[in-house]
Amino acid sequence: MCGIVGYVGKRRAAPILIDGLYELEYRGYDSVGIAVSDGNTTKIIKKTGRVKEIESAREETGYIGIGHTRWATHGDVTVENAHPHTYKNITLVHNGIIENAAKLRAELMQRGEKFYSDTDSEVIAHLIADESCGDLLSAVMRGCGKLVGSYALAVLTEEEPETIVCARMRSPLIVGKAKEGLVVASDIPAVAEEGAELYSLDDGEFSRLDGKTVTIYNAQGSEIHKEPIQFDLAEGRAEKGVYRHYMRKEIDEIPNVLSDSTLKIDCDSRFSDFYRVLCHAEYIQIVACGTAYHSGLCAKAAIERLCRVPVDVRIASEYRYADPIVPKGTLLFAISQSGETADTLAAVRLAKRKGACVAAIVNVKYSSLTRLADHVLYTQAGREVAVAATKSFNAQLAVLYSVAVVLAEIRGKRAPTLNGLDKKAKRTIGISESVRSWVPYFVGAQSVYFIGREADMCTALEGSLKLKEISYLPSEGYAAGELKHGTLALIGPYTPVVAIITRRDIAQKTMNAVHEAYSRGAKIFLVTCFEEFCEEKEITAFVLIPKCPSEFSPILSVIPLQLLAYYTSVARGNDPDKPRNLAKSVTVE
Ligand code: M6R
Repeated sequence: MCGIVGYVGKRRAAPILIDGLYELEYRGYDSVGIAVSDGNTTKIIKKTGRVKEIESAREETGYIGIGHTRWATHGDVTVENAHPHTYKNITLVHNGIIENAAKLRAELMQRGEKFYSDTDSEVIAHLIADESCGDLLSAVMRGCGKLVGSYALAVLTEEEPETIVCARMRSPLIVGKAKEGLVVASDIPAVAEEGAELYSLDDGEFSRLDGKTVTIYNAQGSEIHKEPIQFDLAEGRAEKGVYRHYMRKEIDEIPNVLSDSTLKIDCDSRFSDFYRVLCHAEYIQIVACGTAYHSGLCAKAAIERLCRVPVDVRIASEYRYADPIVPKGTLLFAISQSGETADTLAAVRLAKRKGACVAAIVNVKYSSLTRLADHVLYTQAGREVAVAATKSFNAQLAVLYSVAVVLAEIRGKRAPTLNGLDKKAKRTIGISESVRSWVPYFVGAQSVYFIGREADMCTALEGSLKLKEISYLPSEGYAAGELKHGTLALIGPYTPVVAIITRRDIAQKTMNAVHEAYSRGAKIFLVTCFEEFCEEKEITAFVLIPKCPSEFSPILSVIPLQLLAYYTSVARGNDPDKPRNLAKSVTVE
């Protein structure tokens, strides 16, 4: 993970770097640093904590610089391990993981080189410095040739005071021209401005920013030309407005996101090419991580019920090491908000090698996944800033359910409509505010359980992930019928159990699990669209959501769980937008 940024030009670099780092904080926020050079000396300012810790460095002079916001991989969260790292004449920032760092470090130490941090990144500075020959680009190319792993790099040397050299291997990197200067960054919002011309580097490519010109090279060192990214400034901007946290604002955006993300076959160009692929789909695999994996599980439930097409959903980080069977004609959906999740990208590369046709369901335009996939179906969630995914989950479901409806039609089956879900989502948000009264039961709980069957089980998994990642409460999402096979042993007096019930024909079965938990003293909270269950004596509190086709119900039933996680996190004094140890975009294995 980590975010990197760089600037060389006529403006003072420090404020540009710091503003850029604020935009990249979603990529990691345990320490931060910048290096700014005035042409003679390079000054490094770094601190543990968030970008605000280096606010005073705004005043630094110098027209060239690089910056970094860190999510620790190698080495503790200390000032020494914060970037930039420097060795001899080389200063750099790095995003990624160098897998052969320990071996390289040992070799370099044997040659007498000293290290000041525990990071893999410092090893890169040594390798490049050792290759120095008066041409920074050649030194970076040769240094990178020794690396195994992933990296996005921005490198400075005092010997070329107007040059930043950049390199990309499996970690995203944008380079380009901005107002009165040249820029590099992990992501577009860090450097986007009116009139900027930005290019996305691909794996193995390098770039030299040398005062006035951006030159891009392929892995063999030949100059190449690329088309600039068509970015939309408004789309990249995110403001909290009247909200205290992005997460709460993003939940309120769900209704609009649903209407924008629902695909309609008769008038949607996004389907045109892909339609032919769907016509031949006999077997589907889905790879994804975290929340996106849960949307894959929801899609499986809907597609198998509505279309009778078998769907396997796999955690991307497992898929890549499982030597997966990919039968001829497999259609593989890769689901990702960021489009940069390293495990998902690796799973896609593997599936492609094995002959799958890959369709990406992705939110971030120009992300690596969009370039790898054969087909791209964009979710229209807009920028999601909070680390905990909310509106992007609902958007993924809108796209996946649209696919399910079309696939059902292709196969001559009747499918329910997605119309009106946006309005129902709006009502659900209003109704779900009542979960604030649930918070006292959760805020000090030792553990929390979410249960449901079939699609409701997928919602339970997502509700549990949301709660644990931002409230830090131990929690499990469970198939309601599985409770009695072991987990019931953990349920005792006052244990909060949240049951999700949205499918009529199996509602009573989940209620059986509710009775079993209640008999052991659990406090039962219910999310349902069936009024009759709300009045049962076991229920401490409930949210009665609007009725919708049960295949699509997670799109609504997850909303009270997102709000419950949010309000519990706030009550526990946490920052729900930036939970500890996590980052929005997981670009390392
Ligand atoms: O960007 P992606 O959708 O590929 O990210 C996958 C997971 O890292 C992500 O969903 C993560 O689980 C969220 N923090 C959950 O809220």
